Amino acid sequence: MNKSAVKKIAVLTSGGDAPGMNAALRAVVRTANHYDIECFGVREGYNGLINDDFTKMGPRSVKNIIGAGGTILRSARSLEFKTKEGRQKAYDNCVKHGIDGLVCIGGDGTFTGAKIFNEEFGIKVIGVPGTIDNDIFGTDNTIGYDTALNTAMDAIDKIRDTATSHNRVFFVEVMGRDAGFIALNSGLATGAVDILIPEKKDSIEDLFATFERAEKAGKSSSIVVVAEGEQLGSIYDLAKATKAGFPDYDIRVAILGHIQRGGSPSCADRVLASRLGFGAVVGLMKGKTNVMAGLQSNNLVFTPFEEAIKKHNEINQELMLLSEILAI
Ligand code: F6P
Repeated sequence: MNKSAVKKIAVLTSGGDAPGMNAALRAVVRTANHYDIECFGVREGYNGLINDDFTKMGPRSVKNIIGAGGTILRSARSLEFKTKEGRQKAYDNCVKHGIDGLVCIGGDGTFTGAKIFNEEFGIKVIGVPGTIDNDIFGTDNTIGYDTALNTAMDAIDKIRDTATSHNRVFFVEVMGRDAGFIALNSGLATGAVDILIPEKKDSIEDLFATFERAEKAGKSSSIVVVAEGEQLGSIYDLAKATKAGFPDYDIRVAILGHIQRGGSPSCADRVLASRLGFGAVVGLMKGKTNVMAGLQSNNLVFTPFEEAIKKHNEINQELMLLSEILAI
């Protein structure tokens, strides 16, 4: 490779953690080492930049973490980094350590901070998409999404067992503040009778019509998967409204919550994280900045932060239709 545009880089994980962040970190550290670039880990996201919490990392600092959940660097949603004073402190610490490139592993909040930091101080920054929500434009999948999906699927399968035994209707909430990717795919994979997501305009009438069709078809138990960010109402509101419409139904609510954020990353997430961590370092070496490394159609691509944050991957309408057809 030609002369590198960076000599000393720092890497951090920020925002909601996601399985595979450690695998991405490992890839960043080992790629840097391979190309003779010094690498520092920054603890607790942008707070570590502000509080000067840097630690020199080498290939052995990331041993045995490819399969570990969470992030050994720890993560935070830094409020101080949202202030100009906070970012100034962060920049001063980068200068102190001679950092000329930064890899930020996280989601859209992380990239928003990275973009401002780059624009204010000119330090080269590359993002690596790590969030279970899969709500980042410029990559087919985000790191952690596949693992979270499988966790949700396993949990819903278990709920299915007890729902069937008791002829019950379950409303199951999965994560996704603004996005329904986990709900749609875990719902399809577990045969949910209905899937409610923020990207689709849902109505209680449609939900009731689905229950009626299910009943007619002889279904004795049902699961409705609801994304956290569903606009129609909270999962408890939906359960209450359903009880009012169908007094005979024995209804239960289950919120899967943060269980979806933990656990050992799947093979797909480990491979994705390794490729993107590598891509981020190579991107910095080539002088790229203010972009996110992503995989599209199995190719490494770089998307400007601006687009990655503002644009959205569309929900696949075919999957939506398929889940409706196959559920009953
Ligand atoms: O962005 C990932 C995510 O897990 C969302 O799905 C969820 O809404 C949010 O983080 C929860 O954040 P926190 O862990 O801060 O409560």
